[in-house]
Amino acid sequence: MGKIAVLHGINLQTLGRREPDIYGRVTLEAINSRLRRMGREAGVEVDCRQTNCEGEMAGWIAELDPDDFLIINPGAWTHTHYSIPDAIRAAGTPALEVHLSNIGARESFRARSVVAPACLGQICGLGAGSYYLAMNYALERMTGRAPGRTAEGVEEDE
Ligand code: DQA
Repeated sequence: MGKIAVLHGINLQTLGRREPDIYGRVTLEAINSRLRRMGREAGVEVDCRQTNCEGEMAGWIAELDPDDFLIINPGAWTHTHYSIPDAIRAAGTPALEVHLSNIGARESFRARSVVAPACLGQICGLGAGSYYLAMNYALERMTGRAPGRTAEGVEEDE
């Protein structure tokens, strides 16, 4: 079984003190430790990392395999950095994009993600809960069958 990589991009190391009205007061370390615990309880390796360097992020994504799963919050790179979706496609790793804030309800430049087309989907606007929902999905997918989606695509209702 592969691992789940949780990759946080630019400026996310400041969570907890950064614009708490928008991003909440939870720190990145608190989010990571809960995600690691979720992985431990399910018997799946979870590797959490943060970087402010685009090249380092692309390098980490390139180390992933199609057997792994990627949960990524690219921060502001979401809206501008085509190297990130290119790296995800090259790795062939299934991915979910997450954001703490609702990027569709903020400045217009945030509404567009250049990363989302390379992902299975996007979860945003739920604070740290966006990460936990993504982790639930990733764990179900890796340990059994995630409801609502088969390997081939989205399931029909029964
Ligand atoms: C963010 C949203 C981005 O627009 C912003 O640049 C961030 C954080 C979020 O998690 O809400 O750095 O990715």
